[in-house]
Amino acid sequence: EQMPLRLTINGKAQQLSIEPRVTLLDLLREQLHLTGTKKGCDHGQCGACTVHIDGQRVNSCLTLAMTTEDCNVTTIEGLADGDKLHPMQEAFIKHDGFQCGYCTPGQIMSAVACIREGHADSPEEIREYMSGNICRCGAYANIIDAIMDVKK
Ligand code: FES
Repeated sequence: EQMPLRLTINGKAQQLSIEPRVTLLDLLREQLHLTGTKKGCDHGQCGACTVHIDGQRVNSCLTLAMTTEDCNVTTIEGLADGDKLHPMQEAFIKHDGFQCGYCTPGQIMSAVACIREGHADSPEEIREYMSGNICRCGAYANIIDAIMDVKK
């Protein structure tokens, strides 16, 4: 049975009809075709699905879409300002913060939250905050450099 859901995604108001058991990740990817948010493990272990709900980072694979009623959801697609990339996106390019790129949207969403929440004062603090975002290519050092660069 479908249920109504009203929320804002990347600044756009949405009136949706969804299955109550659908996750925010599947809603974004399958119903709204916002495929920038990635599905890695689908059970909270990899961070590839990281988005912001009312500015807080969450694993969208662990979030039931129904719980986001009246919330503001931001995905990687909503980070740039038109054609102008977000400073964190620029920094990932400048510092080679990715190789295959699969984890990158989640890394960037966490990185933005890392600075916003005040956990970017040292490489150690950043590493701790970013520890839920796995990169199989091992780009960690460059990701930390990118965050330090935006922070300064
Ligand atoms: Fe959500 Fe891995 S897909 S944490």
